[in-house]
Parts: sequence; structure tokens; C-alpha cells
Amino acid sequence: MFVTTCSEKWQGAARMVKELKHVKPSPPALRVLDAGMGDGTVLTRTMRAMHNMFPTIPFLIVGKEISLEDVRLSIEKMVDRFHEHPHTVFMATNLYYYEVAGLSPRNSSPADFKWHEIALEGSTTHDFDAQISNQLQPILSAGWRTRTSEKTGNPLYVKPAAVVIYRKDHRFALDAVIPRQGEAQEFDFVMASQPYQARLPAEVKSRNVLRPLARALAPGGRMVVVQSTGKDPGMDIVRSVWPEENPFQTPRRMLLDVLKSEMKAERRNLRYFPYTDSRSLFRFYLHTLASEISSNIGTSTLLAAWNAAVYVAQIEDAKLMKALRKGGYLGETEKILRAHDGLWFTNELFTVARGRT
Ligand SMILES: C[S@@+](CC[C@H](N)C(=O)[O-])C[C@H]1O[C@@H](n2cnc3c(N)ncnc32)[C@H](O)[C@@H]1O
Repeated sequence: MFVTTCSEKWQGAARMVKELKHVKPSPPALRVLDAGMGDGTVLTRTMRAMHNMFPTIPFLIVGKEISLEDVRLSIEKMVDRFHEHPHTVFMATNLYYYEVAGLSPRNSSPADFKWHEIALEGSTTHDFDAQISNQLQPILSAGWRTRTSEKTGNPLYVKPAAVVIYRKDHRFALDAVIPRQGEAQEFDFVMASQPYQARLPAEVKSRNVLRPLARALAPGGRMVVVQSTGKDPGMDIVRSVWPEENPFQTPRRMLLDVLKSEMKAERRNLRYFPYTDSRSLFRFYLHTLASEISSNIGTSTLLAAWNAAVYVAQIEDAKLMKALRKGGYLGETEKILRAHDGLWFTNELFTVARGRT
């Protein structure tokens, strides 16, 4: 609901594309890692722009995602990418951050790693869609099962899995691009949009997410991270119900300082860019009609606004349920929408770049 009612994923993709302009691909392919595809909107929008910028360069796209539903939604959006950009190799995997660049699980035996390849026949989106639907569903329902970590509550995969998809008629030319199990990859562009739980300390975000991704950068590669700031009317909605809430306590400079101190001995040629506020911060909006806020705000808009605010602030379910039972939250939401003539959220972006030598 959040993805379809707010412009975050469009705005996020537009920022990714700006950053992509600093990347100079070298043979055999432009290699992109999306470290958490979600529903794939940011990735497919970025891939469209990639085609525009590099129409003849092969792409290797690796999308990390543990959620079965998100993998389905993402792959569905890839069908037209294979049509417009035939030299695309796409791989979805449930490997963890610390495993994904190595293309190999660390805590399970390589024999447990379920590795599938789908070579798409034909040349139309209808052909591709039919094969993906038929071949993918059984692979995903067997390969993307999860269990819940007793320690953290996070989802864990039951078995590591990967599915690699490319066009059969381009198999020969893509031979050097198609990833092979256990052969580590480096990436020219790493996208990390909303990649961690907001409330985790900076050290944990750095150790578990940013550090393994920074290590996966190829020479000349660039990692782009997007996170929420809470400096927006969305947070006013949250605080109207929970005045003490403060989920966003690791601003970009803090995270980059931690990452830098952890990485400097290991990788001297990384550069860290927090950017100025004018380059880093960007807003995204709840879609509303101009006439709506001044007159009668519909219940569906109020529900969408409330949903977006608690989703972005990652309010835990039990706490949310209590507020829902108590009621009154839509009245507060309405006041804030009226006061600001709509609803927006502020994200921030920062990058890490690896030198060419
Ligand atoms: C790795 S994240 C984000 C996925 C993808 N990179 C994107 O930006 O859409 C995956 C999970 O975080 C949550 N999420 C996505 N966008 C969010 C946001 N703006 N604020 C809080 N949580 C978000 C969703 O539950 C999603 O399944």
C-alpha cells in the first residue's frame, strides 16, 4: 500500500540514476547489486535509465531479496527489461548481505545451495512472461522458504537459493557475464534503499549491511544508500500518537564515520560522501488531489497517510494494534494533512566510492 500511494520509489530511483552517471562500466558488463529489491520498483526504474544511458552494454543485475512475494513482484517487472535490453542477465538470490558478493553461502554447505538457470526462449514479453510464470513458481515456492530468527526476529532462509535468468538467443554473447555459483563478483553500482531496521545502532548497520556492501565494490564502483530522516510531517503523525518515538537516530554522517573507521585499514581507496543537505535530502509525497485537502479528505487518503507514517517509522505490530484499538489516530492524521496541505517524508542519500586503482 505504501509503495502505490507514495512517490518514494520513483524519487529514490531518480536519485539512483543521478549517481549512476558517475559510473564508467568496463567489459564484460555493467554490474549492479540491488541489496534488497523490495517490490523491484526502484530497480526496474533504474534499469530503464541504464538502458537509456548504455543501450548496447551487457548488464549483470543481482537482486538480493528474502521475501518470496517481493521476488515475485520484482521478477514480474523484469519481463519488459529482457525485451528492451536483450543483453541482460538477472539473478535473484536470498543470500545474506555478507554472502551475496561471494555468490556462495557461508553457513550452509555449497551442496545445499539451490542454483537455477532459466534461459528464456522466443523474443516477446508474452513468451518471456509465460516461461517465467511456469518455471519460476515452483523454484520460488521451494527455494524462498523462511524461518524466523529466535535471536533477532528477522527472517532467515531455510536453504540458500539463486535463480539466474537471461535470453537464450543471447547466451553466447553473455557467456562471460552469466554468474557461476561460488565465483565472487564485484559490482560497479550497489543500490541500498531502506536496507536496514531504522532502530538498529550505527555499529550494527555498518557491520551487517554497509561493510559487506562496501567490500563488494569493484574498482571505480559506487554504493548509494537511502534512508529516512524523520524530519517531516510523517513523523508528526507518529508523534501525535506516540510522543516519545524517535526511530531515526543514525544520520548519514554518523553512519559514514563508523563505516570509515571500520574500513580504513582494510580498504584505503574508499571515499565517503555524506553530501550537503541540498544534494542529499529529498522529499517524497503521498499522492493526493490538490482539491482534496482543502475540502473533504476521503477516508482512503487518511488511511493511506496513516499507513505510510507508521510504515516509514517501522512501528512494531503490537504497539500499532494498541493504537488501532484505542482509535482517534485518523483525526490526528487529518489535522496534520490540513496543516501541511498534504503529506511528505524526507529521505537522505549518501555514497561510498572505490578508487580505480
Ligand atoms: C530492503 S527494504 C527496501 C526495498 C527496496 N530497496 C526499496 O527501496 O523498495 C525491504 C523492506 O523494507 C521495508 N521498506 C521499504 N521501504 C521502506 C521505507 N520507506 N520505510 C520503512 N520501511 C521500508 C519493506 O518492508 C520492504 O520489504
